[in-house]
Amino acid sequence: MKISGVPYRTLWPGESGLVRVIDQRRLPFELVTLDLKTLEDAAHAIKTMVVRGAPLIGATAAYGLALALRTDASDRRIEEASKILRATRPTAVNLAWALERVRRAIARLDPGQRFEAALREAGDICEADVEQCRSIGAHGLEIIRRLAKPSARRVNILTHCNAGWLACVDWGTALAPIYMAHDAGIPVHVWVDETRPRNQGASLTAYELGAHGVPHTVIVDNLGGLLMQRGEVDMVIVGSDRTTACGDVCNKVGTYLKALAARDNDVPFYAALPVSTIDWSLDNGRDIEIEERSASEVTEVSGRTAAGEVASVRVVPDGSAALNLAFDVTPARLVSGIITERGVCEASREGLLRLYPERRRTG
Ligand code: MRU
Repeated sequence: MKISGVPYRTLWPGESGLVRVIDQRRLPFELVTLDLKTLEDAAHAIKTMVVRGAPLIGATAAYGLALALRTDASDRRIEEASKILRATRPTAVNLAWALERVRRAIARLDPGQRFEAALREAGDICEADVEQCRSIGAHGLEIIRRLAKPSARRVNILTHCNAGWLACVDWGTALAPIYMAHDAGIPVHVWVDETRPRNQGASLTAYELGAHGVPHTVIVDNLGGLLMQRGEVDMVIVGSDRTTACGDVCNKVGTYLKALAARDNDVPFYAALPVSTIDWSLDNGRDIEIEERSASEVTEVSGRTAAGEVASVRVVPDGSAALNLAFDVTPARLVSGIITERGVCEASREGLLRLYPERRRTG
């Protein structure tokens, strides 16, 4: 996607095997890139959320594993590097999926060939992600088109967190259909949940929608219910960090409450995700490990001061405890449909298997 007319991806290979990423901690105030040269750089970037969003976490981990093999590509090194990367963020299943893909691609090669092959596989993962997101966009666009149909009226879409191109390599998952609708001339407007505690909606979703010229309004996380009661939300689209084989959707904390409000108000609630986000080994969303992050993300808020510097301020009394569970699970029964690169399906085992019939054989 473009920023000020310049096409960007969230990460891209640089000279001599390094990987360049947009430092998302600095957005929306500064567009700065960072070079990842080692396994440690990649692990640190994921852990500290220089990069974030399930597909991008996976892509960065794939490159991280490749970088780890530059000087030592032994089986032991692969094991050690995978363990370090896997521990960075536990909920987004794309991370484990991408590591597994790179490992499979290099397992039978001589150590001397593994570094280059791993870099190539990481590159392929990125290209596939772009194509999958493009395809999710095309399938989601048809849903938006149908909603717009009666009178070519404005379609109001609510989204939570950031599941746009900044969360992927390009395009995004939940936002891809919105970009395509906007580009097709369908009048769309996005209600952007600010998404406390880290405010990925306010800082990242608003930034990328603005850069593409998509009309949007940032709202506090608690406003969505009232807007739905007033008929001002036509659909909800969110991304996912892990979706079970039965269609339970794990996403940024607060998503579940939006799904409840959507059901109560007959607003369709869609999750948009690529195959790499489906955890075929789990049936029940309750079994998904929920990442617990630092309480300081709740007790402090960061932003730009009137003087122009970026600073954090405390918003909670000294001594009050804070709990920061980063994700929640929306049960399949509250999900109107799952938008994947292969089409739209019911949020259920049967629905997913209809799109991925090859999974019937492997279980
Ligand atoms: O903690 P984050 O910013 O990595 O969380 C991101 C989300 O929850 C996104 O909605 C999800 O990864 C889907 S991204 C296409």
